[in-house]
Amino acid sequence: MIYDFLLAHAAENPVSFHMPGHKGAQFYERFGYDDFLKEVMNCDITEIVGADNLFQMEGIILATMAKYSKLYDVIDSYLLVNGSSCGLIASILACVGDYGKLIMARNCHKSVFNSLTIADCEPAYIRPEAIEEYGILGSVSPKEVEKAIRENPTADAVVVVSPNYYGICSDIEAIAEVVHKYNKILIVDQAHGAHLKFFSRFAAEFGYPKAAEDQGADLVINSIHKTLGSFTQTAILNVCSDRVDERVLEDKLQVMESTSPSYPLMASLDINADILFEHGEELIREWAENLEYFYEEAAKIKGLEIIRHPMLDRTKINIDMSAYDIDGNELEELLLNDGIYIELVTGNIVMAMTGIGNTREHFDRFLASLRKIASAHEYVGKEKSKKIQSHVFTRELERVLVPAEREYVHIDDAEGRICAQSIIPYPPGIPIACPGEVIDRDLIEYVKKSRAAGEKVMGMNANHQVLVGVVAPENEDMYDDYDDEDVKLHLG
Ligand SMILES: Cc1ncc(COP(=O)(O)O)c(C=O)c1O
Repeated sequence: MIYDFLLAHAAENPVSFHMPGHKGAQFYERFGYDDFLKEVMNCDITEIVGADNLFQMEGIILATMAKYSKLYDVIDSYLLVNGSSCGLIASILACVGDYGKLIMARNCHKSVFNSLTIADCEPAYIRPEAIEEYGILGSVSPKEVEKAIRENPTADAVVVVSPNYYGICSDIEAIAEVVHKYNKILIVDQAHGAHLKFFSRFAAEFGYPKAAEDQGADLVINSIHKTLGSFTQTAILNVCSDRVDERVLEDKLQVMESTSPSYPLMASLDINADILFEHGEELIREWAENLEYFYEEAAKIKGLEIIRHPMLDRTKINIDMSAYDIDGNELEELLLNDGIYIELVTGNIVMAMTGIGNTREHFDRFLASLRKIASAHEYVGKEKSKKIQSHVFTRELERVLVPAEREYVHIDDAEGRICAQSIIPYPPGIPIACPGEVIDRDLIEYVKKSRAAGEKVMGMNANHQVLVGVVAPENEDMYDDYDDEDVKLHLG
């Protein structure tokens, strides 16, 4: 079934504005890697003599790591085969002790939340700005970071996501300055921004945000697969300072990754590095110019709004066509009719994720589809009412201990109950409720709306049930009188 689906999809000649960044075989074929594609099964080996070992690198894997540390100009680069997810968790485990405290942006990816459970550590949240005009979350301010550190002086590390899913970056330079003033470690989830280093190097005049590696972050995790040329699941963890003990980091990486790392995946990281060395400038300039062309042409389509932000990585194209009374889900559907596959829908906004493998033809097909949609619909002016409320992700939920006994209840009956399993609209993969948080009405309404729109919500089963804690009658007082100071939060 999976195989049939994939072959049928490829035969459609689709245009990909979703992950991964290579956008198909054409990218490797262009640079003479057809043999790899033909031989991929024969490349699927294990740690035979000469093949090195991901967890004791001395040969060919070490050589590929060196290519990345040179490309990113950092101390060390680790190859990851379980995505940025494993790099984020390993980084946090390496920096925060058991029962420690982690300062983290509330819009972090679920892997960061999962690290809380694994390390048994407690979060202190930083709230990113809410961009009400678009109903999405934006940057994290250095001021908020400083406030969180002052309120949580025992925290070991700070994690922020930059760029976020929509491409909005934070001022990492200023954040790093604050974090280091208090002797903490800064981990940046740059899963969506692996390309930024190369935009600064090869296309500086286009004004893209700087990479976290160049702004003082200590550990930076990049999903090479999302925007550059390697296979899905491959990523790079960059070590940019000596504040983290790399022996501990390496130990945590072997905890989090498969003991059978895939050689085709690692080879794709190696190929991507070679392509960047040899053709990086040509590819990045092509990409930047195609984007300029797209934005210029899209601006001519009446009523098509593209979100703007001073810290936006414009490789993410966020489009709003609500002026035609088309919401995000409807726009996705209309684009699909023309074979255009996008990455994410949030309320009225469709996010098209461009990558190093997108060609001018892809941008032209996208533009043609948008023009067709505009001309086939009536222009009614901007419709604000359908945008989602970003505040559901930023408001503070009451937090308590998770009782050991748990049960499934219908989402309609979950108000006031203690969340026992993260509830995660996906994408964007940001938990809307974490274990220990008390479910409120806004959350229930948001989740129901998402499901009704056909979106995925992890943590809610097919019968629309969620897992909640059961409070024994003799413990009810404890939950009524919950006091932040008295109860050690357990995010289990
Ligand atoms: C912001 C963010 N961070 C981290 C990740 C995890 O990356 P990966 O899929 O490479 O594990 C994602 C995945 O979509 C993400 O959106």
